[in-house]
Amino acid sequence: MTKPAPKTFHVKSFGCQMNVYDGARMSEMLEAEGLSASAGADDADLVVLNTCHIREKAAEKVYSDIGRLRRDDGSTPMIAVAGCVAQAEGAEIPRRAPSVDIVVGPQAYHRLPALVRAAQAGKAVDTDMPAQSKFDVLPARRKQGPSAFLTVQEGCDKFCTYCVVPYTRGAEVSRPWQAVVDEARALVDAGAREITLLGQNVNAWQGEDEAGRAQGLGGLIRALDRIDGLDRIRYTTSHPNDMRDDLIIAHKEVATLMPFLHLPVQAGSDPILKAMNRSHTVDSYLRVIDRVREARPDIAISGDFIVGFPGETEEDFAATLGLIERVEHALAFSFKYSPRPGTPAAVMEGQIAGPVMDERLQRLQALLNSQQHAFNRSKIGIRMPVLIERNGKKPGQRIGKSPWLQSVVIEDGPELGAMVEVDIFAAGPNSLNGVITG
Ligand code: SAH
Ligand code: SF4
Ligand code: F3S
Repeated sequence: MTKPAPKTFHVKSFGCQMNVYDGARMSEMLEAEGLSASAGADDADLVVLNTCHIREKAAEKVYSDIGRLRRDDGSTPMIAVAGCVAQAEGAEIPRRAPSVDIVVGPQAYHRLPALVRAAQAGKAVDTDMPAQSKFDVLPARRKQGPSAFLTVQEGCDKFCTYCVVPYTRGAEVSRPWQAVVDEARALVDAGAREITLLGQNVNAWQGEDEAGRAQGLGGLIRALDRIDGLDRIRYTTSHPNDMRDDLIIAHKEVATLMPFLHLPVQAGSDPILKAMNRSHTVDSYLRVIDRVREARPDIAISGDFIVGFPGETEEDFAATLGLIERVEHALAFSFKYSPRPGTPAAVMEGQIAGPVMDERLQRLQALLNSQQHAFNRSKIGIRMPVLIERNGKKPGQRIGKSPWLQSVVIEDGPELGAMVEVDIFAAGPNSLNGVITG
C-alpha cells in the first residue's frame, strides 16, 4: 500500500521547552521541503506528535491523542510520533497504534523528510543517536516572535534514579560556541528580542571561544550579551552541582541576563536526595542559593519538586517544606513521583500510596502558591521593563513578561515585541497588572 506524499503538516509539542524548540525546527525543515503549515491537526496531511515521557500520564496521553486523529470518514493523516516517547518505545508504538506511520527520536528528527518519503511505502522507525549532530544539517531559522528558545546543550549524564531523560535524550553534548552565537544572531535578525538558552543541564554547557579559551555558560552568555538587539537572556534548566562562579558572577555583571534562576532541588531531605542520586545535599544547595543571591539580591528562585519518592517519610517530607520556607520561591513546579519503566527508583522498596502522595502534594503546593503570590505582591508599586509577548483575551489587552518571568497584563498595550516601562498596581497568584508609565 502506498500513501500520497503529504502537502501540509501540523506539529504538536508536549513536555518541556526543548520539545517546543524541536517542534519549531521540525516545522522549519518541513517547510524547507515544500510542505506548508496548516492551521490545526484536522486539515493536515501529516501530523507530528512531539511527545514527552517524563511521567506516566504524559506518556500514556500519546495513545489517546493518536486515536483522536481519526477523522469522521475513518481515514487518518500520516502520523509521526517524535520526541521522548518515540525514543523510549520505538517500534512498539506502531504495534500498539497501527495508524502511526513514523517514529522518530529526538536525536534523529533531521531525517524526518526522508522518513516521510519512506512512510509512503511502509512504517518508518528511526531512534538512532547518530554521531553527526542534527544541528549541522537543520535549515536556517525563520521568523520569530519576541521571545525564542535556543538549545545549547542536550542530554544528561546525571542519572537521577527516577528520571527517563538520560535514556531518551542521550549523553550530555554541548553545541559549539560559534554555532550558538550564529543561531542567536539569526534569531534576533528574525525578530527575537529575548532568547532562552535551553539544555537538560544547561549550566553544564562547556566549549571554547574564538580564541580557543575554555568557556562555561557564563562566558557564552557574555558573548550573546554583545549581540545588538538582543535585550534579554535567560537559561533553563540548571543543575545545582554545575552552578559555577562564572555563571553566578554573570548575574551580577551582565545587564541582559535576567534575574531569574530555575534550579530544581527536588526534595529537602538528604536521605531522599541520596536515594534520588541527586549528588547535592540540602546544605550544598542552600550554599549555591546564597552565592547567587549575593551576586544578584533580587533574583527570583524557581524549582521543581517531587513528592512521594520511594521511602519518603513524613519527616523527609517535612524537611522539604522546611527547605521551601528557607529558599522562598518565586515560582515552582511540583509533581507526584511517577515510576518510570527501566529506572532504578521504579523497583525500589517503599513505594508511596497514591492518597499519601496526593495529600503531600496539596500541602506542598499550598506553601509554594503562597510564596509565589507573596513574590508577585512584592512588585506592587514598582516600575519595570516589560517585553510584550502576546495578546490578552480582551480587545487591546497585551501580556508581557517582567524581568522575573512574571506575566504582566496591560490594558491598551502596544504592539507585540515592544519593550515598555510599566508601573505595577496589582498582583494575583499568577500574574501582575500594570499600566504603561506615562
Ligand atoms: N533536567 C532538569 C529537568 C528534568 S524533567 C533537572 O535536572 O531538574 C523536569 C522535572 O520533572 C524534574 O525536575 C522533576 O521534578 C520531574 N520529574 C522527572 N522525573 C519524574 C518522575 N519519574 N516522577 C515525577 N516527576 C518527575
Ligand atoms: Fe533527569 Fe536528573 Fe538529568 Fe535532570 S539531572 S534530566 S532530573 S536525570
Ligand atoms: Fe519530556 Fe523529554 Fe522534555 S521526557 S520533559 S520531552 S526531555
